Amino acid sequence: MDVWTRVATEKELVTTLSVTVGDRLVALFRTDEGIFALDDICSHEYSRLSEGEVWAGEVYCQKHGSRFNLRTGSVTGLPATLPVGTWDVKVEDGEIWIASRTPEPS
Ligand code: FES
Repeated sequence: MDVWTRVATEKELVTTLSVTVGDRLVALFRTDEGIFALDDICSHEYSRLSEGEVWAGEVYCQKHGSRFNLRTGSVTGLPATLPVGTWDVKVEDGEIWIASRTPEPS
């Protein structure tokens, strides 16, 4: 069963926003294709994906340049080799809600 958490209003998300759900940091990205949510911490080393660049459906980690697919969290560019967690997103009455698709990394 999905556990939805309200994390922001639509107005608060201009392009990128970092939010906290429990003890997980989550990056929200607004793109022409919609709103996407990924775990905010890069799977390579410690860096915030919310501080990276978004281009063509991918986020580029600002520390070493790994790329992750915004829809799937999969790695599309090294040096990272592990995906990042992804979240379902819904918008209701101007509020953004997210629900984890993947368990918390161990
Ligand atoms: S910390 Fe993100 S690519 Fe190295």
